[in-house]
Amino acid sequence: MTDGNGTLAWWQTGIIYQIYPLSFQDSDGDGRGDLPGILHRLDYLADLNIAAVWLSPVFASPMRDFGYDVADYTSIHPWFGTLSDFDRLLAGLHGRGIKLILDLVPNHTSDRHPWFLESRSSRDNPRRDWYLWRDPAPGGGPPNNWLSFFGGPAWTYDETTGQYYLHQFTPEQPELNLRHPAVLEAMLEVMRFWLDRGVDGFRVDVPWLLIKDAGFRDEPENPAWDGIDPHGRLLHIHTAHQPELHRIIRAMRAVVDGYPGERVLIGETNVPEEELVKYYGAARDEFHLPFNFRLIHAPWDARKIRQMVETYEAILPQRASPAWVLGNHDQPRIASRFGPDAARVATMLLLTLRGTPTCYYGDELGMENGVIPRDRIRDPQALNQPGISGVFNRDEARTPLPWDTSPNAGFAPEGVDPWLPLGEDWPMRNVARQAADPRSMLALFRALTRLRQCHPALSHGSYESVDTKADGVFAYKRTAGAERLLIVLDFAGSEHLLDSGELADGAEILLSTGMRRTGRVDLRRLRLLSNEGLILKIS
Ligand code: GLC
Repeated sequence: MTDGNGTLAWWQTGIIYQIYPLSFQDSDGDGRGDLPGILHRLDYLADLNIAAVWLSPVFASPMRDFGYDVADYTSIHPWFGTLSDFDRLLAGLHGRGIKLILDLVPNHTSDRHPWFLESRSSRDNPRRDWYLWRDPAPGGGPPNNWLSFFGGPAWTYDETTGQYYLHQFTPEQPELNLRHPAVLEAMLEVMRFWLDRGVDGFRVDVPWLLIKDAGFRDEPENPAWDGIDPHGRLLHIHTAHQPELHRIIRAMRAVVDGYPGERVLIGETNVPEEELVKYYGAARDEFHLPFNFRLIHAPWDARKIRQMVETYEAILPQRASPAWVLGNHDQPRIASRFGPDAARVATMLLLTLRGTPTCYYGDELGMENGVIPRDRIRDPQALNQPGISGVFNRDEARTPLPWDTSPNAGFAPEGVDPWLPLGEDWPMRNVARQAADPRSMLALFRALTRLRQCHPALSHGSYESVDTKADGVFAYKRTAGAERLLIVLDFAGSEHLLDSGELADGAEILLSTGMRRTGRVDLRRLRLLSNEGLILKIS
Protein backbone atom coordinates (compact mmCIF):
# COMPACT_ATOMS: atom_id res chain seq x y z
CA MET A 1 0.00 0.00 0.00
CA THR A 2 1.46 3.41 -0.87
CA ASP A 3 0.56 7.06 -0.47
CA GLY A 4 2.80 8.28 -3.24
CA ASN A 5 5.63 8.65 -0.70
CA GLY A 6 6.63 5.04 -0.56
CA THR A 7 5.25 1.96 1.13
CA LEU A 8 3.34 2.41 4.35
CA ALA A 9 4.07 0.19 7.32
CA TRP A 10 1.31 -1.74 9.11
CA TRP A 11 1.58 0.57 12.09
CA GLN A 12 0.73 3.55 9.89
CA THR A 13 -2.50 2.06 8.57
CA GLY A 14 -3.70 -0.45 11.18
CA ILE A 15 -5.40 -0.30 14.56
CA ILE A 16 -3.72 -1.17 17.85
CA TYR A 17 -5.81 -2.88 20.54
CA GLN A 18 -4.66 -2.71 24.15
CA ILE A 19 -5.32 -5.74 26.33
CA TYR A 20 -5.06 -5.44 30.10
CA PRO A 21 -4.17 -9.12 30.56
CA LEU A 22 -5.50 -9.50 34.11
CA SER A 23 -8.98 -8.66 32.87
CA PHE A 24 -9.33 -10.26 29.45
CA GLN A 25 -9.93 -13.99 30.00
CA ASP A 26 -9.16 -16.32 32.87
CA SER A 27 -8.28 -19.83 31.67
CA ASP A 28 -7.13 -21.50 34.90
CA GLY A 29 -9.81 -20.45 37.36
CA ASP A 30 -7.83 -18.10 39.60
CA GLY A 31 -10.01 -15.10 38.79
CA ARG A 32 -7.25 -13.42 36.80
CA GLY A 33 -6.86 -13.20 33.06
CA ASP A 34 -3.88 -14.97 31.51
CA LEU A 35 -2.07 -15.67 28.25
CA PRO A 36 -3.86 -18.95 27.41
CA GLY A 37 -7.10 -17.01 27.98
CA ILE A 38 -6.11 -14.50 25.32
CA LEU A 39 -5.13 -17.34 22.98
CA HIS A 40 -8.57 -18.83 23.50
CA ARG A 41 -10.11 -15.58 22.23
CA LEU A 42 -8.19 -15.29 18.96
CA ASP A 43 -11.39 -15.44 16.89
CA TYR A 44 -12.72 -12.45 18.76
CA LEU A 45 -9.52 -10.50 18.18
CA ALA A 46 -9.46 -11.38 14.51
CA ASP A 47 -13.07 -10.18 14.13
CA LEU A 48 -12.10 -6.78 15.52
CA ASN A 49 -10.02 -6.19 12.36
CA ILE A 50 -7.07 -4.94 14.37
CA ALA A 51 -3.46 -4.89 13.22
CA ALA A 52 -1.81 -5.41 16.59
CA VAL A 53 -2.38 -6.29 20.20
CA TRP A 54 -0.50 -4.36 22.87
CA LEU A 55 -0.25 -6.28 26.14
CA SER A 56 0.15 -4.40 29.39
CA PRO A 57 3.03 -6.00 31.37
CA VAL A 58 2.98 -9.77 31.83
CA PHE A 59 6.44 -10.09 33.40
CA ALA A 60 7.50 -11.41 36.80
CA SER A 61 6.41 -8.83 39.34
CA PRO A 62 5.23 -8.51 42.95
CA MET A 63 2.26 -6.66 41.36
CA ARG A 64 2.45 -3.60 43.57
CA ASP A 65 1.56 -1.62 40.44
CA PHE A 66 0.04 -4.58 38.58
CA GLY A 67 3.04 -5.40 36.45
CA TYR A 68 4.48 -1.90 36.06
CA ASP A 69 6.88 -3.00 38.80
CA VAL A 70 9.00 -5.55 36.99
CA ALA A 71 11.12 -8.03 38.96
CA ASP A 72 12.41 -9.90 35.90
CA TYR A 73 12.05 -8.44 32.42
CA THR A 74 12.49 -11.73 30.63
CA SER A 75 10.17 -14.08 32.46
CA ILE A 76 6.39 -14.34 32.56
CA HIS A 77 4.52 -13.91 35.85
CA PRO A 78 2.94 -17.27 36.82
CA TRP A 79 -0.47 -15.57 37.01
CA PHE A 80 -0.26 -15.15 33.24
CA GLY A 81 1.35 -18.48 32.38
CA THR A 82 4.77 -19.46 31.08
CA LEU A 83 7.17 -18.48 28.34
CA SER A 84 5.77 -21.36 26.29
CA ASP A 85 2.28 -19.91 26.70
CA PHE A 86 3.73 -16.64 25.51
CA ASP A 87 5.30 -18.26 22.44
CA ARG A 88 2.01 -20.00 21.66
CA LEU A 89 0.11 -16.73 21.91
CA LEU A 90 2.63 -14.97 19.69
CA ALA A 91 2.39 -17.74 17.08
CA GLY A 92 -1.40 -17.73 17.33
CA LEU A 93 -1.63 -13.98 16.78
CA HIS A 94 0.87 -14.09 13.93
CA GLY A 95 -1.13 -16.92 12.40
CA ARG A 96 -4.07 -14.51 12.23
CA GLY A 97 -1.95 -11.70 10.83
CA ILE A 98 -2.00 -9.81 14.14
CA LYS A 99 1.19 -8.27 15.54
CA LEU A 100 2.14 -8.33 19.22
CA ILE A 101 3.50 -5.33 21.09
CA LEU A 102 4.89 -5.62 24.62
CA ASP A 103 5.05 -3.05 27.38
CA LEU A 104 8.60 -1.97 28.22
CA VAL A 105 9.09 -0.31 31.59
CA PRO A 106 12.62 1.13 31.52
CA ASN A 107 12.23 3.97 34.02
CA HIS A 108 11.94 1.81 37.12
CA THR A 109 12.02 -1.77 38.30
CA SER A 110 10.40 -3.51 41.23
CA ASP A 111 12.28 -3.22 44.53
CA ARG A 112 12.48 -7.03 44.27
CA HIS A 113 14.45 -6.93 41.05
CA PRO A 114 17.88 -8.53 41.64
CA TRP A 115 19.51 -5.33 40.35
CA PHE A 116 17.90 -3.33 43.13
CA LEU A 117 18.55 -5.96 45.77
CA GLU A 118 22.23 -5.68 44.91
CA SER A 119 22.12 -1.91 44.63
CA ARG A 120 20.62 -1.41 48.06
CA SER A 121 22.89 -3.98 49.75
CA SER A 122 25.87 -1.63 50.21
CA ARG A 123 27.21 1.73 49.05
CA ASP A 124 30.06 0.09 47.21
CA ASN A 125 28.09 -2.61 45.45
CA PRO A 126 28.91 -2.52 41.71
CA ARG A 127 25.21 -1.96 41.00
CA ARG A 128 24.87 0.90 43.53
CA ASP A 129 24.70 3.56 40.84
CA TRP A 130 22.25 1.58 38.69
CA TYR A 131 19.62 3.43 40.76
CA LEU A 132 19.41 7.01 42.04
CA TRP A 133 20.71 7.21 45.60
CA ARG A 134 21.22 10.49 47.49
CA ASP A 135 22.23 11.54 50.97
CA PRO A 136 19.57 13.04 53.22
CA ALA A 137 19.20 16.84 53.06
CA PRO A 138 21.68 18.67 55.35
CA GLY A 139 19.09 19.01 58.13
CA GLY A 140 17.76 15.48 57.52
CA GLY A 141 14.80 14.40 55.40
CA PRO A 142 14.53 13.77 51.65
CA PRO A 143 17.34 15.13 49.44
CA ASN A 144 15.01 17.52 47.56
CA ASN A 145 11.32 18.39 47.14
CA TRP A 146 10.49 16.02 44.28
CA LEU A 147 7.07 14.37 44.47
CA SER A 148 5.65 10.97 43.59
CA PHE A 149 2.73 10.76 41.13
CA PHE A 150 1.11 8.47 43.67
CA GLY A 151 1.31 10.94 46.57
CA GLY A 152 4.04 11.92 49.01
CA PRO A 153 7.74 12.48 48.40
CA ALA A 154 9.57 10.77 45.53
CA TRP A 155 12.23 9.54 47.98
CA THR A 156 12.38 6.64 50.41
CA TYR A 157 15.03 6.28 53.07
CA ASP A 158 16.89 2.99 53.23
CA GLU A 159 18.26 2.11 56.66
CA THR A 160 20.91 -0.30 55.40
CA THR A 161 23.03 2.34 53.70
CA GLY A 162 21.63 5.56 55.16
CA GLN A 163 20.60 7.05 51.83
CA TYR A 164 17.37 7.81 49.98
CA TYR A 165 16.41 6.28 46.60
CA LEU A 166 14.21 7.93 43.99
CA HIS A 167 10.77 6.64 42.92
CA GLN A 168 8.14 8.75 41.21
CA PHE A 169 5.48 6.05 41.59
CA THR A 170 5.22 3.62 44.54
CA PRO A 171 8.23 3.20 46.89
CA GLU A 172 8.40 -0.33 45.47
CA GLN A 173 9.30 1.13 42.04
CA PRO A 174 12.87 2.47 42.41
CA GLU A 175 14.06 4.44 39.37
CA LEU A 176 16.93 3.28 37.24
CA ASN A 177 19.88 5.48 36.38
CA LEU A 178 19.68 5.38 32.60
CA ARG A 179 22.69 7.68 32.27
CA HIS A 180 24.75 4.69 33.36
CA PRO A 181 25.85 2.96 30.13
CA ALA A 182 25.48 -0.51 31.66
CA VAL A 183 21.90 0.18 32.71
CA LEU A 184 20.94 1.36 29.25
CA GLU A 185 22.71 -1.63 27.72
CA ALA A 186 20.84 -4.00 30.07
CA MET A 187 17.53 -2.48 28.96
CA LEU A 188 18.46 -2.76 25.28
CA GLU A 189 19.34 -6.40 25.95
CA VAL A 190 15.83 -6.93 27.34
CA MET A 191 14.43 -5.54 24.09
CA ARG A 192 16.63 -7.88 22.04
CA PHE A 193 15.42 -10.85 24.09
CA TRP A 194 11.80 -10.21 23.08
CA LEU A 195 12.57 -9.09 19.54
CA ASP A 196 14.54 -12.31 19.02
CA ARG A 197 11.44 -14.21 20.17
CA GLY A 198 9.47 -12.44 17.46
CA VAL A 199 7.58 -9.61 19.11
CA ASP A 200 6.70 -6.73 16.83
CA GLY A 201 7.58 -3.83 19.08
CA PHE A 202 7.19 -2.06 22.39
CA ARG A 203 5.08 0.53 24.08
CA VAL A 204 7.55 2.39 26.30
CA ASP A 205 6.29 3.41 29.75
CA VAL A 206 6.68 7.04 30.97
CA PRO A 207 9.46 8.01 28.53
CA TRP A 208 9.31 11.67 29.54
CA LEU A 209 10.73 10.73 32.94
CA LEU A 210 13.70 8.64 31.82
CA ILE A 211 16.36 11.21 32.73
CA LYS A 212 16.36 13.49 35.77
CA ASP A 213 18.30 16.68 36.47
CA ALA A 214 21.88 15.67 37.22
CA GLY A 215 22.06 18.30 39.99
CA PHE A 216 18.84 17.06 41.67
CA ARG A 217 17.62 20.64 42.03
CA ASP A 218 14.34 21.45 43.80
CA GLU A 219 11.34 21.98 41.56
CA PRO A 220 9.49 25.32 41.74
CA GLU A 221 5.91 25.70 42.98
CA ASN A 222 3.24 25.64 40.29
CA PRO A 223 1.39 28.99 40.42
CA ALA A 224 -1.54 27.45 38.51
CA TRP A 225 -1.96 24.45 40.83
CA ASP A 226 -5.59 23.25 41.08
CA GLY A 227 -5.16 22.43 44.76
CA ILE A 228 -6.38 18.86 44.16
CA ASP A 229 -3.70 16.73 42.55
CA PRO A 230 -0.80 16.73 45.05
CA HIS A 231 1.71 15.98 42.29
CA GLY A 232 0.58 19.08 40.38
CA ARG A 233 1.79 21.34 43.19
CA LEU A 234 5.22 21.61 41.58
CA LEU A 235 6.39 22.40 38.07
CA HIS A 236 8.30 19.30 37.01
CA ILE A 237 11.10 21.03 35.20
CA HIS A 238 13.83 18.81 36.66
CA THR A 239 12.13 15.40 36.51
CA ALA A 240 10.31 15.63 33.17
CA HIS A 241 11.31 16.41 29.58
CA GLN A 242 15.07 16.50 30.15
CA PRO A 243 16.60 16.86 26.64
CA GLU A 244 19.04 14.03 27.31
CA LEU A 245 16.24 11.45 27.44
CA HIS A 246 15.98 11.63 23.66
CA ARG A 247 19.37 9.96 23.43
CA ILE A 248 17.94 6.98 25.35
CA ILE A 249 14.97 6.72 23.01
CA ARG A 250 17.25 6.91 19.98
CA ALA A 251 19.24 4.00 21.37
CA MET A 252 16.02 1.99 21.78
CA ARG A 253 14.91 2.87 18.28
CA ALA A 254 18.25 1.74 16.87
CA VAL A 255 17.72 -1.68 18.46
CA VAL A 256 14.22 -1.98 16.99
CA ASP A 257 15.45 -0.83 13.57
CA GLY A 258 18.16 -3.48 13.67
CA TYR A 259 15.54 -6.20 13.26
CA PRO A 260 13.94 -7.31 10.03
CA GLY A 261 10.23 -6.78 9.44
CA GLU A 262 8.38 -3.70 10.50
CA ARG A 263 8.93 -3.52 14.26
CA VAL A 264 7.53 -0.52 16.03
CA LEU A 265 8.48 1.71 18.95
CA ILE A 266 5.59 3.47 20.64
CA GLY A 267 5.82 5.99 23.46
CA GLU A 268 3.46 6.64 26.35
CA THR A 269 3.95 10.34 25.75
CA ASN A 270 1.38 11.91 28.02
CA VAL A 271 3.01 15.31 27.51
CA PRO A 272 2.08 18.73 26.09
CA GLU A 273 1.94 18.96 22.28
CA GLU A 274 5.08 21.06 21.88
CA GLU A 275 7.01 18.34 23.75
CA LEU A 276 5.18 15.52 22.03
CA VAL A 277 6.39 16.28 18.52
CA LYS A 278 10.00 16.10 19.74
CA TYR A 279 9.50 12.41 20.45
CA TYR A 280 9.41 11.63 16.73
CA GLY A 281 13.09 12.62 16.84
CA ALA A 282 14.79 15.45 14.95
CA ALA A 283 15.92 12.87 12.38
CA ARG A 284 12.72 10.80 12.78
CA ASP A 285 14.82 8.39 14.77
CA GLU A 286 12.84 8.12 18.03
CA PHE A 287 9.27 6.82 18.47
CA HIS A 288 7.44 5.71 15.35
CA LEU A 289 4.29 6.49 17.28
CA PRO A 290 4.37 8.82 20.28
CA PHE A 291 0.86 8.53 21.72
CA ASN A 292 -1.15 11.72 21.62
CA PHE A 293 -3.23 11.89 24.83
CA ARG A 294 -4.97 15.18 24.00
CA LEU A 295 -8.30 13.51 23.16
CA ILE A 296 -8.29 11.99 26.63
CA HIS A 297 -7.84 15.34 28.31
CA ALA A 298 -10.06 17.39 25.96
CA PRO A 299 -13.62 18.34 26.86
CA TRP A 300 -16.33 16.85 24.62
CA ASP A 301 -16.64 20.02 22.56
CA ALA A 302 -16.64 20.09 18.75
CA ARG A 303 -14.84 23.42 18.42
CA LYS A 304 -12.12 22.57 20.94
CA ILE A 305 -11.48 19.13 19.49
CA ARG A 306 -11.34 20.51 15.95
CA GLN A 307 -8.85 23.12 17.11
CA MET A 308 -6.78 20.49 18.85
CA VAL A 309 -6.67 18.23 15.79
CA GLU A 310 -5.78 21.15 13.52
CA THR A 311 -3.03 22.36 15.84
CA TYR A 312 -1.52 18.91 15.98
CA GLU A 313 -1.75 18.37 12.23
CA ALA A 314 0.02 21.73 11.78
CA ILE A 315 2.94 21.04 14.12
CA LEU A 316 3.53 17.39 13.19
CA PRO A 317 6.81 16.69 11.45
CA GLN A 318 6.44 15.92 7.75
CA ARG A 319 4.98 12.51 7.00
CA ALA A 320 4.69 11.66 10.70
CA SER A 321 1.71 9.53 11.70
CA PRO A 322 -0.39 10.84 14.58
CA ALA A 323 -1.14 8.19 17.22
CA TRP A 324 -4.46 9.00 18.86
CA VAL A 325 -5.74 7.36 22.02
CA LEU A 326 -9.07 7.87 23.77
CA GLY A 327 -8.73 5.55 26.71
CA ASN A 328 -6.35 3.22 28.53
CA HIS A 329 -5.82 1.42 31.82
CA ASP A 330 -5.05 4.67 33.66
CA GLN A 331 -8.06 6.72 32.52
CA PRO A 332 -11.82 6.70 33.10
CA ARG A 333 -13.76 4.76 30.45
CA ILE A 334 -14.90 6.71 27.39
CA ALA A 335 -18.57 5.79 27.95
CA SER A 336 -18.37 7.16 31.50
CA ARG A 337 -16.64 10.36 30.42
CA PHE A 338 -18.97 11.25 27.58
CA GLY A 339 -22.07 9.08 28.07
CA PRO A 340 -23.05 5.99 26.07
CA ASP A 341 -24.36 7.81 22.98
CA ALA A 342 -21.45 10.20 22.68
CA ALA A 343 -19.12 7.21 23.17
CA ARG A 344 -20.28 5.91 19.78
CA VAL A 345 -19.45 9.25 18.18
CA ALA A 346 -16.11 9.34 20.02
CA THR A 347 -15.26 5.90 18.66
CA MET A 348 -16.06 7.04 15.14
CA LEU A 349 -13.83 10.06 15.73
CA LEU A 350 -10.93 7.93 16.96
CA LEU A 351 -11.23 5.52 14.04
CA THR A 352 -11.56 8.16 11.33
CA LEU A 353 -8.95 10.73 12.29
CA ARG A 354 -5.72 10.57 10.35
CA GLY A 355 -3.13 8.35 12.01
CA THR A 356 -2.93 5.19 14.06
CA PRO A 357 -5.66 4.72 16.67
CA THR A 358 -5.13 2.67 19.80
CA CYS A 359 -8.30 1.20 21.33
CA TYR A 360 -8.59 -0.02 24.89
CA TYR A 361 -10.20 -3.45 25.50
CA GLY A 362 -13.85 -3.19 26.42
CA ASP A 363 -14.36 0.21 24.82
CA GLU A 364 -15.62 -1.72 21.78
CA LEU A 365 -18.56 -2.71 24.01
CA GLY A 366 -18.97 0.75 25.47
CA MET A 367 -17.95 -0.56 28.91
CA GLU A 368 -18.40 1.98 31.68
CA ASN A 369 -16.30 2.55 34.80
CA GLY A 370 -16.79 -0.31 37.22
CA VAL A 371 -18.00 0.22 40.76
CA ILE A 372 -15.25 -0.86 43.14
CA PRO A 373 -16.19 -1.19 46.81
CA ARG A 374 -13.60 0.45 49.07
CA ASP A 375 -12.33 -2.86 50.40
CA ARG A 376 -11.68 -4.14 46.89
CA ILE A 377 -9.59 -1.21 45.64
CA ARG A 378 -6.28 -2.55 44.31
CA ASP A 379 -4.87 0.48 42.48
CA PRO A 380 -1.85 1.73 44.47
CA GLN A 381 -2.40 5.27 43.23
CA ALA A 382 -5.89 5.30 44.76
CA LEU A 383 -4.78 3.52 47.93
CA ASN A 384 -1.97 6.03 48.47
CA GLN A 385 -4.16 9.04 47.87
CA PRO A 386 -7.54 8.35 49.45
CA GLY A 387 -8.30 12.06 49.09
CA ILE A 388 -8.49 11.90 45.33
CA SER A 389 -9.58 8.30 45.00
CA GLY A 390 -13.17 9.45 45.50
CA VAL A 391 -12.89 10.99 42.04
CA PHE A 392 -11.52 8.03 40.08
CA ASN A 393 -9.45 5.03 40.82
CA ARG A 394 -7.82 3.15 37.98
CA ASP A 395 -9.45 -0.16 38.91
CA GLU A 396 -12.68 1.28 37.56
CA ALA A 397 -11.26 1.08 34.05
CA ARG A 398 -9.71 -2.37 34.57
CA THR A 399 -12.74 -4.57 35.28
CA PRO A 400 -13.04 -7.97 33.56
CA LEU A 401 -14.30 -8.15 29.99
CA PRO A 402 -17.82 -9.59 30.04
CA TRP A 403 -18.08 -12.31 27.39
CA ASP A 404 -21.57 -13.73 27.84
CA THR A 405 -24.38 -14.26 30.32
CA SER A 406 -22.90 -17.35 31.96
CA PRO A 407 -21.70 -17.07 35.59
CA ASN A 408 -18.88 -14.54 35.94
CA ALA A 409 -19.73 -13.35 32.43
CA GLY A 410 -17.59 -16.11 30.94
CA PHE A 411 -14.51 -14.28 32.18
CA ALA A 412 -13.80 -16.81 34.94
CA PRO A 413 -15.42 -20.10 35.94
CA GLU A 414 -18.45 -20.17 38.22
CA GLY A 415 -17.69 -19.81 41.92
CA VAL A 416 -14.43 -17.94 41.38
CA ASP A 417 -14.09 -14.39 42.60
CA PRO A 418 -12.67 -12.26 39.75
CA TRP A 419 -9.70 -10.13 40.84
CA LEU A 420 -11.86 -7.04 40.32
CA PRO A 421 -15.66 -7.07 40.33
CA LEU A 422 -17.40 -7.27 36.96
CA GLY A 423 -19.05 -4.07 35.78
CA GLU A 424 -22.61 -3.98 37.13
CA ASP A 425 -24.21 -3.95 33.68
CA TRP A 426 -22.51 -7.13 32.41
CA PRO A 427 -25.71 -9.17 32.00
CA MET A 428 -26.82 -6.59 29.42
CA ARG A 429 -23.47 -5.42 28.11
CA ASN A 430 -21.40 -8.38 27.02
CA VAL A 431 -19.76 -9.71 23.87
CA ALA A 432 -22.33 -12.43 23.11
CA ARG A 433 -25.30 -10.09 23.36
CA GLN A 434 -23.66 -7.39 21.32
CA ALA A 435 -22.44 -9.83 18.69
CA ALA A 436 -26.05 -10.82 18.13
CA ASP A 437 -27.29 -7.23 17.88
CA PRO A 438 -26.63 -5.54 14.53
CA ARG A 439 -26.86 -2.07 16.11
CA SER A 440 -24.70 -2.70 19.16
CA MET A 441 -21.53 -0.80 19.99
CA LEU A 442 -19.56 -3.92 19.05
CA ALA A 443 -21.29 -4.04 15.66
CA LEU A 444 -20.44 -0.37 15.17
CA PHE A 445 -16.84 -0.96 16.18
CA ARG A 446 -16.47 -3.84 13.75
CA ALA A 447 -18.13 -1.87 10.96
CA LEU A 448 -15.74 1.02 11.59
CA THR A 449 -12.66 -1.16 11.64
CA ARG A 450 -13.83 -2.95 8.46
CA LEU A 451 -14.35 0.39 6.73
CA ARG A 452 -10.83 1.46 7.68
CA GLN A 453 -9.51 -1.71 6.07
CA CYS A 454 -11.41 -1.18 2.82
CA HIS A 455 -11.04 2.57 2.39
CA PRO A 456 -7.57 3.98 1.81
CA ALA A 457 -8.95 7.46 2.55
CA LEU A 458 -9.57 6.28 6.13
CA SER A 459 -6.46 4.20 6.67
CA HIS A 460 -3.97 6.67 5.29
CA GLY A 461 -5.68 9.53 3.44
CA SER A 462 -5.06 13.21 4.02
CA TYR A 463 -7.04 15.22 6.58
CA GLU A 464 -8.86 18.51 6.07
CA SER A 465 -11.34 20.21 8.39
CA VAL A 466 -14.69 21.18 6.85
CA ASP A 467 -16.61 24.20 8.04
CA THR A 468 -20.28 23.31 8.54
CA LYS A 469 -21.18 26.59 10.28
CA ALA A 470 -23.13 24.51 12.80
CA ASP A 471 -22.27 24.81 16.47
CA GLY A 472 -21.51 21.47 18.06
CA VAL A 473 -20.58 19.76 14.78
CA PHE A 474 -17.08 18.67 13.82
CA ALA A 475 -16.60 17.67 10.18
CA TYR A 476 -13.59 16.71 8.12
CA LYS A 477 -12.60 15.24 4.83
CA ARG A 478 -10.29 12.29 4.32
CA THR A 479 -8.90 11.92 0.81
CA ALA A 480 -6.75 9.30 -0.90
CA GLY A 481 -6.42 9.42 -4.68
CA ALA A 482 -9.89 9.72 -6.15
CA GLU A 483 -11.58 8.64 -2.94
CA ARG A 484 -13.12 11.39 -0.83
CA LEU A 485 -14.87 10.74 2.45
CA LEU A 486 -16.68 13.23 4.64
CA ILE A 487 -17.02 12.59 8.36
CA VAL A 488 -19.65 14.59 10.22
CA LEU A 489 -19.98 14.27 13.99
CA ASP A 490 -22.50 15.78 16.39
CA PHE A 491 -20.97 16.67 19.75
CA ALA A 492 -23.87 18.73 21.08
CA GLY A 493 -26.56 16.09 21.50
CA SER A 494 -28.80 17.96 19.07
CA GLU A 495 -30.09 17.57 15.53
CA HIS A 496 -28.67 19.72 12.70
CA LEU A 497 -29.57 20.55 9.13
CA LEU A 498 -26.29 21.09 7.34
CA ASP A 499 -25.38 22.51 3.98
CA SER A 500 -22.13 21.04 2.70
CA GLY A 501 -23.21 21.54 -0.89
CA GLU A 502 -19.93 23.16 -1.90
CA LEU A 503 -18.22 19.76 -1.52
CA ALA A 504 -20.58 17.99 -3.90
CA ASP A 505 -24.30 17.62 -4.46
CA GLY A 506 -24.84 14.15 -3.28
CA ALA A 507 -23.15 11.62 -1.09
CA GLU A 508 -23.63 8.08 0.08
CA ILE A 509 -23.81 7.14 3.74
CA LEU A 510 -21.23 4.44 4.36
CA LEU A 511 -21.92 4.28 8.09
CA SER A 512 -23.98 6.04 10.73
CA THR A 513 -23.24 5.58 14.44
CA GLY A 514 -26.96 4.78 14.86
CA MET A 515 -26.53 2.00 12.26
CA ARG A 516 -29.95 2.71 10.82
CA ARG A 517 -29.29 5.09 7.96
CA THR A 518 -27.82 4.12 4.62
CA GLY A 519 -28.24 5.27 1.05
CA ARG A 520 -27.80 8.54 -0.79
CA VAL A 521 -28.27 11.97 0.77
CA ASP A 522 -28.36 15.53 -0.53
CA LEU A 523 -25.34 17.37 0.91
CA ARG A 524 -27.14 20.70 0.62
CA ARG A 525 -29.70 19.47 3.12
CA LEU A 526 -27.92 16.94 5.28
CA ARG A 527 -29.79 15.99 8.40
CA LEU A 528 -27.48 14.95 11.24
CA LEU A 529 -29.28 13.39 14.17
CA SER A 530 -28.54 14.03 17.81
CA ASN A 531 -25.41 12.15 18.92
CA GLU A 532 -24.87 10.89 15.42
CA GLY A 533 -21.73 10.48 13.42
CA LEU A 534 -21.75 9.83 9.69
CA ILE A 535 -19.15 8.63 7.24
CA LEU A 536 -20.14 9.75 3.76
CA LYS A 537 -18.61 8.92 0.41
CA ILE A 538 -18.59 12.02 -1.73
CA SER A 539 -19.03 11.37 -5.40
C1 GLC B 1 2.44 4.36 33.29
C2 GLC B 1 1.45 3.22 33.32
C3 GLC B 1 0.79 3.19 34.67
C4 GLC B 1 1.83 2.97 35.73
C5 GLC B 1 2.96 4.01 35.61
C6 GLC B 1 4.17 3.59 36.37
O1 GLC B 1 1.82 5.59 33.35
O2 GLC B 1 0.52 3.37 32.27
O3 GLC B 1 -0.21 2.22 34.75
O4 GLC B 1 1.28 3.03 37.00
O5 GLC B 1 3.39 4.19 34.28
O6 GLC B 1 4.81 2.55 35.72
